Amino acid sequence: MNSDNSSDRLAQHLRLLAAGLPPGGRLPSVRTLMRELAVGPVTVRQAVDRLSRDGTLEARPGIGTFTRGRTPRPAAAADLGWQSVALGPGRVETAALSRLCLVAPDRARALNAGYLPQELQATAAIAAAAARVLRRPGVWSRMPVEGLEALRAWFAAGTGGCFSAHEVTICPGTQAANAAAFRALARPGDPMLIESPTYVGAIAAARAAGLELVPVPTDADGLRPGQLEAAFARTGARLLYCQPTYAVPTGTVLEASRRAAVLACVVRAGAFLIEDDWARDFHLGPGPAPPPLCADDRDGHVILVRSLTKSAAPGLRIGAICAKGAALERLRAARLTDDFFVPGLLQETALQLVTAPGWPRHLRGLQGALRERRDGLAAAVRRHLGPQSLGRVPAGGLHLWVALPPGVSDLAVEHEAEAAGILVSAGRHWHPAEADRPMLRLSFGAAGPDWIDGCVAALAGIVAEASGRAMVTGRPGQGQGSALDPLRAEP
Ligand SMILES: Cc1ncc(COP(=O)(O)O)c(C=O)c1O
Repeated sequence: MNSDNSSDRLAQHLRLLAAGLPPGGRLPSVRTLMRELAVGPVTVRQAVDRLSRDGTLEARPGIGTFTRGRTPRPAAAADLGWQSVALGPGRVETAALSRLCLVAPDRARALNAGYLPQELQATAAIAAAAARVLRRPGVWSRMPVEGLEALRAWFAAGTGGCFSAHEVTICPGTQAANAAAFRALARPGDPMLIESPTYVGAIAAARAAGLELVPVPTDADGLRPGQLEAAFARTGARLLYCQPTYAVPTGTVLEASRRAAVLACVVRAGAFLIEDDWARDFHLGPGPAPPPLCADDRDGHVILVRSLTKSAAPGLRIGAICAKGAALERLRAARLTDDFFVPGLLQETALQLVTAPGWPRHLRGLQGALRERRDGLAAAVRRHLGPQSLGRVPAGGLHLWVALPPGVSDLAVEHEAEAAGILVSAGRHWHPAEADRPMLRLSFGAAGPDWIDGCVAALAGIVAEASGRAMVTGRPGQGQGSALDPLRAEP
């Protein structure tokens, strides 16, 4: 019998053997086959090669010969189309907010971050506090909906007497506090006045609550009282969201002479003012920070919102919402139905952190670093984008509001900068309606002193190219990217 015939017969034999084995089953060794079937090694190799080529066997040199796993039949793609019919159109567009919440890749220059970079966070102190708290027996027990008494007292003390401990409710950060306030103090379809531009997360949360946003223009001194008065009169709104101190994204502070006028409008309208005091710990001087607006309110119009996520670490999701009277009860009911209570581990850790002697030291160190980064970014912006691109440098907060040349698409700059590894935020995301001119929000929290100048120089190159294109096409750039822009109405 020639070797071809032997190898044919052996292949046939192995095929039958393989059929009786499960996928991945092991065939007898070459030596066993040679002995039992009285064939030579070449015959065995030829038969195995043939069955390997047609996909029946897999020879793993030095290990053995195995039946191949059956190729799974591709699962039919699930048909999820019915969900679009069931859900109907979405109410809230969160693309801009999601972009901000994305964790930046390691090597990216993140000038879009609303939180401290890791090197400025209080990570060691939080870890030490959490380790102590974790040893406590009751740490996983239920907590009161309003939060830990001592932590509420700490937040109350920080309001300078505006609120007592029993008027404070602990929340998992101010995004949750704002969202609860929008739902608790208004009904779907109600108008809510909102500074423009403003914090993109507040825009999204208000839309999720079904509120009609009514933008009120601001200038370098914050909300414009005349426009606010007109907006209250036109809409009958009972709710205003604003950031009097270092507003996101502009960094403006409500000018001293406007404080009384704004509050008077709110009182005349019988409305609530939600004061998002997110940047209280980011006052960079000189002199003391302006007091919160609630300091001028006696009758429960101002609801104050504060957070530790900014000055401690974004993962320490502890904030507080402070209110009086029936509004306090409504807010607490909203918090209860949302998620019962904030975990004890986080509350106790936060309390240990802020009452430790190291906390004021952490804040001082932080403010020093932020001052240096703010000044470095401002100088680089003026140097490379021109002095006209930057107005007043804010005395606090985390952001600079930078003007682009007229006609340049802020969205195109955002996308092209991202492709170059520089993350910035297009100004239009921060408007509840149309933006009137192209701007960028640049955050200085992560602006490393050793790279910021080169980074802004590269950004300026991208802006110059976009500006050149805008001049060639003669088209106003601000509208060019509108199809990609979730917050801007289509023209
Ligand atoms: C103005 C403002 N308010 C609220 C928040 C939400 O912060 P958190 O929920 O982390 O406290 C942010 C975060 O960027 C913010 O910028």
